[in-house]
Amino acid sequence: MSRSYDKTHEITALYEISKLLGSSLNLKVNLRGVMRVLAEYLDMKRGTVALRSAGEVSIIAAHGMSEEEIKRGRYKLGEGIIGRVAKHGSPIVIPNIGDEPLFLNKTGSRKTIKKENVAFLCVPIKFKNEVLGVLSVDRLFGSKAVSFEEDLRLLKIIASLIAQYVRIHMEIEREREAFLEEKENLKSQLKGKYRVENIIGQSDSMQEVFESVHRVAPSKANVLLRGESGTGKELVAKAIHYMSARAKGPFIKFNCASIPEGLLESELFGHEKGSFTGATAMRKGRFELANGGTVFLDEIGDLPLTLQPKILRVLQEKEFERVGGEKTIKVDVRLIAATSRNLEELVSSGKFREDLYYRLNVVPLFLPSLRERKGDISLLSEYFIKKYNAENNKSVMITPDVMNVFMNYDWPGNVRELENTIERLVVMARGKNITTSDLPINIREQSMRARYSVQIKDALPSTIEDIEKARISGALQRTGWIQAKAAKSLGITPRQIGYKIKKYNIQETSGSK
Ligand SMILES: Nc1ncnc2c1ncn2[C@@H]1O[C@H](COP(=O)(O)OP(=O)(O)O)[C@@H](O)[C@H]1O
Ligand SMILES: [Mg+2]
Repeated sequence: MSRSYDKTHEITALYEISKLLGSSLNLKVNLRGVMRVLAEYLDMKRGTVALRSAGEVSIIAAHGMSEEEIKRGRYKLGEGIIGRVAKHGSPIVIPNIGDEPLFLNKTGSRKTIKKENVAFLCVPIKFKNEVLGVLSVDRLFGSKAVSFEEDLRLLKIIASLIAQYVRIHMEIEREREAFLEEKENLKSQLKGKYRVENIIGQSDSMQEVFESVHRVAPSKANVLLRGESGTGKELVAKAIHYMSARAKGPFIKFNCASIPEGLLESELFGHEKGSFTGATAMRKGRFELANGGTVFLDEIGDLPLTLQPKILRVLQEKEFERVGGEKTIKVDVRLIAATSRNLEELVSSGKFREDLYYRLNVVPLFLPSLRERKGDISLLSEYFIKKYNAENNKSVMITPDVMNVFMNYDWPGNVRELENTIERLVVMARGKNITTSDLPINIREQSMRARYSVQIKDALPSTIEDIEKARISGALQRTGWIQAKAAKSLGITPRQIGYKIKKYNIQETSGSK
């Protein structure tokens, strides 16, 4: 092979290389292409591009080496020749690697040509003064002693092309990573690890609920949902049903507290024609209607003792008879029960059967009250505002002050109360913004008390009537029970004060409340 390059060859090679580097952003593919061009045009047998990262240089593209060999090509800064070039940033030429003790042959790629005359040329890939990596090339030569000036000059040019490319690539990668990280952050902010459709909650306690929902839904287990009214028990029951294998089957809801005891049995289990006055036709009950699906029994704590054995039997044997019927009916249902009552207390006071309790309580799931997860209030508020804006074709917003009030309020009615409050606010809103003055008085009052003081909390009245009553008694006391004077100090008429005194039954002896 000729020792001095054909200039046209060299220019063609450089042209090919710059074209290649500009063709895409796939670092490995492009650099591999560069090495191929080098081999093809310039008669170099083997070449590598190694890049620096955190105290190391590793080969990321090569020509004439296997994937295995490439993987082994990692060097600490200063280690071997590649490591030295990476560390010091100046080229090294080994005229004959067979004679060089520094040569590590770490990749093992040169076993077969050990006896040949191989020169190793290694130049830094530098951008300004920063060493980004190392370009190295194996060159075979005959028995003649040769100079590598020409080779080095060309390799330096190529290394600088690679440097620019790698630099741009790093920049883009960095931006992409920042973007992805940002996206991930946003994602994890918007939703926790677990998601259940239509149920909002990022707090740890709700995340636990979601995790349980995911775990229990596909199973056959009956579930008992516990939690105050308005915490989302029904929502969770539906989610479990629609995430289960029964999703295509019916979801039948029944509230045990909704109808008189005498009608419960027929509602739940159905009745035969003529079984009682008014039973003019056979009617299926909830359990029969739910066959192949899920029955959701809300307020199970209100289930009368007389009916409890029948429910137990459905749970255990999956069978029952209709009211007034002989025939045993078999059903395949999953039961999800819910209660806001203290079942354990009901059991110990004999109002709820212990065996049924244990049967229901296999998988209990506790829904936290809203005041136990105040962190979710803003997320829920946004969700409901969006929902009711869409429903009412509006685009109202709530001010940060309102959010503050929401955060300080106790929400005894939980998510239901929050949802209803927001729906009302959106429907009633006249302008674009909902402000604190639009809020119901009880929410404003209670929130204010919570915010300003814990001590005076108990001293302060809680309803508008209480406030009025306290103000009137106070004025009467101050004026020695002269009604006209008291009325004047309050800015109302004597007639009005007389009426209020009667209404609130304020008496001289009762003093100020
Ligand atoms: N985590 C939640 N995310 C979104 N909406 C909720 C959530 N919890 C409750 N709701 C809504 O609040 C209302 C009351 O929920 P519900 O499931 O009926 O409560 P419960 O059965 O515990 O009384 C429903 O309109 C429901 O959609
Ligand atoms: Mg409910």
